[in-house]
Amino acid sequence: MSGHGPATPLMARKATALKGEAHVPGDKSISHRSLILGALSVGETRIRGLLEGDDVLATADAMRAFGAEVSRSDDGEWSVHGVGTGGFTEPEDVIDCGNAGTGVRLIMGAMATTAITATFTGDASLRSRPMARITDPLAGFGTQAIGRAKGRLPMTVIGARDPIPVSYTLPVPSAQVKSAVLLAGLNAPGQTSVIEPEATRDHTERMLRGFGAELSVEDTKDGRVVILNGQPELKPQSIDVPRDPSSAAFPVCAALIVEGSDVLVPNIGLNPTRAGLFETLRDMGANLTYENLREESGEPVADLRARFSPDMQGIDVPPERAASMIDEYPVLSVVAANAKGTTMMRGVKELRVKESDRIDAMAVGLRANGIAVEDGEDWWSVVGDGPGSIKGGQQVKTHLDHRIAMSFLCLGMASTDGVTIDDASPIATSFPVFRTLMEQLGASFRAVNG
Ligand code: S3P
Repeated sequence: MSGHGPATPLMARKATALKGEAHVPGDKSISHRSLILGALSVGETRIRGLLEGDDVLATADAMRAFGAEVSRSDDGEWSVHGVGTGGFTEPEDVIDCGNAGTGVRLIMGAMATTAITATFTGDASLRSRPMARITDPLAGFGTQAIGRAKGRLPMTVIGARDPIPVSYTLPVPSAQVKSAVLLAGLNAPGQTSVIEPEATRDHTERMLRGFGAELSVEDTKDGRVVILNGQPELKPQSIDVPRDPSSAAFPVCAALIVEGSDVLVPNIGLNPTRAGLFETLRDMGANLTYENLREESGEPVADLRARFSPDMQGIDVPPERAASMIDEYPVLSVVAANAKGTTMMRGVKELRVKESDRIDAMAVGLRANGIAVEDGEDWWSVVGDGPGSIKGGQQVKTHLDHRIAMSFLCLGMASTDGVTIDDASPIATSFPVFRTLMEQLGASFRAVNG
């Protein structure tokens, strides 16, 4: 898994109106967490709507390697027979997390306070990403880690034999770091706490409570303080994974920029720690409505209706919204290129350490297609000239990054000459049905010889 197959270049042609319903897959963040928390519970957890993308399948394999029984029934329901908090057994081989930063970082946390040793690796993208942000706080529990220079994978993690609980203030706004610390805290005695100056997605906190852990969350002047009581017995759950707002972003944004479009994307979770993109689009003047707004399992959910929006304006995206839309800036920049004026995105340094340097990857590809982009260490801006202004016609590099790949295909749909990506294969990590789903709405793709 640690390499991808041959690159598969793909062109998105200019699309005529996109119409219909887009049923996007299950939430990636919640899918990883369902498998990991299921594996740390005693008994059988059942999961419906799990995202069956490569990232999550790698986490399922990893949970098997740590001793859990994980299976899928013919009707698509997943079952995890967990081994309990502290019950992980030592894997016999290297754990290959593929492209998945969330997978590897959460699993490192989950095994860090059990006296076993595991070695982790991934694809070229994952092997280039920083892991010290995880191993630094884990060292506080007594966990050791030996990786390549600058804390890169492959890396061997030696779980603490007698873990000590930690209190950790996040130096970067990262739900992966927060979650790794909380998962490690599960097998430490006493209270583990995480202080996050900026709130990040809170799925781990919600799900830990759902699995029966004692956890408190308090908003203070220093930020959000999460306190977990260690060594709970997690109780298996029956989970319905909501559909992924980060995947919904693609059909929604494509509909806003392709003339004549009208697309319904049903059952999308609007957890405030995830829904920043949709607010931003509405601030830009997008014709985006929340239909059938309701609560499901304590989370706001709606059907999103996106219609072609010729009058969108560039805006300054509030930097305090960054964490709630961190994965959506690439596709937002494509919408910005189709709006009028400048869209300024500040406070987004984290984009530089995702599956690729997302500011750089988007800036280079947008410029190649004639769009004005400026960027600095933690900001970038895109100047748009309204609908119909993008000529396209160029091939862009996607750097093993699924969201860069899908963003440029959306750009192609709204361009005169189409846009080609050098490799569509990474899309399978998070949105394996992207192409079929977009074709059903009316998009048109063409495989290109590499
Ligand atoms: C995720 C957290 C975010 C996000 C990633 C999923 C998670 O990463 O970019 O796609 O599920 O916790 P960071 O925690 O590094 O910001």
